[in-house]
Amino acid sequence: MAAIGLGILGSGKGSNCRAILEQIRNGNLCAEARIVISDVFDAGILDIAREFGVPNAYLAPGNFRTRLSPEAELALVRMLRDAAVELVVLAGYMRILKSPTLEAFPHKILNIHPSLLPKFPGLEAWKQALAAHETVTGCTVHYVDPGVDSGEIIAQREVPILPDDTPESLHERIQIAERELYPAVIAQFCD
Ligand code: GRF
Repeated sequence: MAAIGLGILGSGKGSNCRAILEQIRNGNLCAEARIVISDVFDAGILDIAREFGVPNAYLAPGNFRTRLSPEAELALVRMLRDAAVELVVLAGYMRILKSPTLEAFPHKILNIHPSLLPKFPGLEAWKQALAAHETVTGCTVHYVDPGVDSGEIIAQREVPILPDDTPESLHERIQIAERELYPAVIAQFCD
């Protein structure tokens, strides 16, 4: 079975990226991380890429707050193509991708979101779930489309909300579920 080439994009600490790279290293995930790209110069995810010996790059996002500048987005597509990326994996990437990337990788861009979509899209979804007095939330892996956390759902994992949960404790438990779910879903693409 040929390893599928991953391009991992993130803006933060990179715990999902670490989980994916660990599963690859342990031989449980038939994939090859070809590049890790961040829009944040000192993001932890770039340190993790270096720790695992994965090519990595900071891509300056331009002047927009929630998306890349058109030039930066073209550069992103070029970097992913040059690295022979087959599947783009968003792991805490805080920018909305537009048509250059979506058209270059149709049905080949995944995201993980910390709620049971379509409930609670957007920022700090675990806080939204707590505020809505839910008793269960979770995480979702979905295809990326032009909207915010609105693409077709691929897989979900439930996480119970406990009576004494704080935003921090709930987020931590959701992230544990994410780190199991995301590599498992990527493995399906390898098959
Ligand atoms: C995750 O909770 C994911 O659901 C959201 O961003 C967070 C990234 O965390 N999209 P990490 O950088 O992988 O630790």
